[in-house]
Amino acid sequence: MNKINSFQEYLNAYEDSISNPESFWDNQAKDFSWYKRHDEVLSWDFKNYKVNWFSGGKLNITENCLERHLRLKGDHAAIIWEPNDAKDESKIISYNQLFSKVCEFSNILLNNNVKKGDRVCLYMPMIPELVFFVLACARIGAIHSVVFAGFSAKSLSERINDSECKIVITSDFSHRGNKVINLKSIVDKAIETSSCVEKVIIVKTGVDNIKINNNRDVFLHDEILKVDNIRPAEVMDSEDPLFILYTSGSTGKPKGILHTTAGYMVYAQYSFMNVFQYEKNDIFWCTADVGWITGHTYLIYGPLLAGSTIMMFEGIPTWPNASRFWEIVDKHKVNIFYTAPTAIRALQAKGNSFLKGYNLDSLKVLGSVGEPINIEAWQWYYEFIGKKKCPIVDTWWQTETGGIMISALAGITELKPTYATLPLPGIKPVIVDDNGDIIKENNKEGYLCIDFPWPSMLRTIYGDHERCQKTYFSTFEKKYFTGDACKRDENGYYRIIGRVDDVINVSGHRLGTAEIENAINLHDKVVESAVIGFRHEIKGQGIYAFIILKDKKDHNIKKEIISIVNKEIGAIAKPDFIQIVYNLPKTRSGKIMRRILRKIADGEKENFGDTSTLLDPSVVKEIIKNRLT
Ligand code: WT7
Repeated sequence: MNKINSFQEYLNAYEDSISNPESFWDNQAKDFSWYKRHDEVLSWDFKNYKVNWFSGGKLNITENCLERHLRLKGDHAAIIWEPNDAKDESKIISYNQLFSKVCEFSNILLNNNVKKGDRVCLYMPMIPELVFFVLACARIGAIHSVVFAGFSAKSLSERINDSECKIVITSDFSHRGNKVINLKSIVDKAIETSSCVEKVIIVKTGVDNIKINNNRDVFLHDEILKVDNIRPAEVMDSEDPLFILYTSGSTGKPKGILHTTAGYMVYAQYSFMNVFQYEKNDIFWCTADVGWITGHTYLIYGPLLAGSTIMMFEGIPTWPNASRFWEIVDKHKVNIFYTAPTAIRALQAKGNSFLKGYNLDSLKVLGSVGEPINIEAWQWYYEFIGKKKCPIVDTWWQTETGGIMISALAGITELKPTYATLPLPGIKPVIVDDNGDIIKENNKEGYLCIDFPWPSMLRTIYGDHERCQKTYFSTFEKKYFTGDACKRDENGYYRIIGRVDDVINVSGHRLGTAEIENAINLHDKVVESAVIGFRHEIKGQGIYAFIILKDKKDHNIKKEIISIVNKEIGAIAKPDFIQIVYNLPKTRSGKIMRRILRKIADGEKENFGDTSTLLDPSVVKEIIKNRLT
């Protein structure tokens, strides 16, 4: 696999990847371990969306994450795990041990009747067993669907049912900061209404007992006693599904983004090694939860494929105080650190005293992901964490893209704060206008599309290919539409501006405004609601809900609405502001003009653009008058 070592090499690789994509990716695929090489590198159609990478190839991704490294790196740390509470012991798991655990856990899944192609839901805290189970699924060819353990029972249940998961893996408790959450009780509630779940496997993390259903629940520690740790990897086709990961879209129902095996594998390792400029023995820390795509590609697969050591942290950055991240960097001598702007802003806001006493000299490369990074956060990160010697890679990508698409290569690409900079080899971004025409001029804003397939792109939305076609390949003919606006400067650097659809990004978490509205509208006193994202200093975007009530004199309503949102989606979707309004700014045809609400929430009092289509312009004044801050 080619590792790019200079800017000229990047330019050459890019040029080659665009002129000869097939031979380019054929070459990248050579270093992996295959049972059978592919017959064809790529076949594709963006009109009736279908894409195949490395067709006819036979492989198993876990063999490439594990066996491939055992000879040289068996005793080398694969995972360094740091618990929520610094007083508890950290764990170091070598590649040999990880291999043995994954085989053992594979046997546990098989013993519990999980077969190739079955869906397995993982609803777990950030503990090593989560990685063992993810890889065990991949080893036996089961499709993992990890659900972030901050989602409510209702959201979990929707995701379990949508992909008809046969088994749910969870733990008794999760420990984050000073909160202990009984995850198992959430799972119980989620599967009350489902007919697909046959078993629940529970990882015991606490001493307290939990409620058990003897017909359905088993404990991991009992299951371990029934199996050995030998399990050859299942032979998978290149295009066999690897995982489903749910994400939010502009309509209410979350989308089960499906990724397949070979293309995802090749791109995960390629992008990991090149963006972060991984060097042998580097300790790589991606702070994302495995419940998001960043955790899939750059906490688990990318680094393990490259034979790196991954740092995994159970807790949160601000507990017991805002030193926790820096204490971990110092303690485990982390070399590459990858986090979200929201975390950087939150820690910056706590003040530099929390950095005192920690040695951050091991750091070589810093990364940012999930949302645009503002210049203040960038500078603080660069100066105080990287000590002006670590490049910051601002990586733009999406659940759907599977891997990083636009980013500097650390130490190679000249940086420009707030710009994601240049596309990775193989990635062909274009910016288009409302008519779908390609914008050639520099510094002009437009819609970001990708004009050519790349190996780790989504293959479908689970169970709804039509929705996949419609969402990504129909807005602009024969192009993948990202949903983001962006512009490009005279050096070809891309700056991502943000979503143009009804998707918002709160603390790096992607949420659909429609999802939140649907939850709010369940309250029987709510007539209608409009949820929008507004600029928020720490979270990037906050949630502002405008609500019309049947009876406006209801004092408990805000609390009740927050509790409904918690129950339907989870605390991450809780509105920051709930403003009761008499009416919403609607066009004569009844469409809410969200553009106006966005401006109001951002504090604007005028300049609402063309409002001539508004049914009742006085509505706007009334809303501005009562705006919450
Ligand atoms: C959306 C995708 C990619 C992993 C985490 C998020 C926004 C992501 C950046 C960045 C500006 C970014 C986009 C994108 N986004 N990275 N570096 N700069 N915006 O994955 O949950 O699928 O969200 O996150 O708006 O469309 P996701």
